[in-house]
Amino acid sequence: PLRIAVLASGRGSNLQAILDAVGRGSLAAEVVGVFSDRTRATALERARNAGITATAVKPSGFGNREQFDEHLFSLIDAVHPDLIVCAGYMRLLSGIQVMARPGRIINIHPSLLPAFKGLHTHQQALDAGASEHGASVHFVSPELDGGPVLSQVRVPVIPGDDAERLGRRVLEREHPLLLATLALLASRRVGVVDHRIQLDGEPLAAPLLL
Ligand code: GAR
Repeated sequence: PLRIAVLASGRGSNLQAILDAVGRGSLAAEVVGVFSDRTRATALERARNAGITATAVKPSGFGNREQFDEHLFSLIDAVHPDLIVCAGYMRLLSGIQVMARPGRIINIHPSLLPAFKGLHTHQQALDAGASEHGASVHFVSPELDGGPVLSQVRVPVIPGDDAERLGRRVLEREHPLLLATLALLASRRVGVVDHRIQLDGEPLAAPLLL
């Protein structure tokens, strides 16, 4: 099974989707550790309820991002993950840690990347008058929400949507998107060569629509 470490800052519904799928045997993976930058993240509770070691590291105890991430990744490395999944992890990762792990860190982001990077993506989509929104799973690069996109799900914007309602519909689709993407990664059919995604040894021309 694919050994997964999960980074989460908050609610942890994407983490819960992973835990549930592993629990019911529908994902050939094992969650080997959950890590957070917030001691009060619900994600930590969800992990512990599933019998998984959950660790919070407070950024305030460190001089800068690099020192914090060096410590965080030393803890992550100790559980020997094949893949590190950012699931609602709200801190930028330092380039040095990202570049040391090519093709081994993914992030789920609530927009159709490259559109609407950063925060408040649902409001950004509404403000831009987008008719379509969604979510993406991408490999993490040193640039915020910038790495190659592996998979996406599209969600129509419906008249009368506000950020909350649209965000709720996107989140419902994030969970199956993440699980399908993890299943693909667990099958070892995906690789990253020179910052480009390969599927079955061929360059991926466009994100997979899952
Ligand atoms: C999800 O919508 C995820 O895509 C987003 O935060 C939410 C976390 O929800 N991530 C980002 O915005 C990353 N920049 P969850 O804690 O319930 O999984």
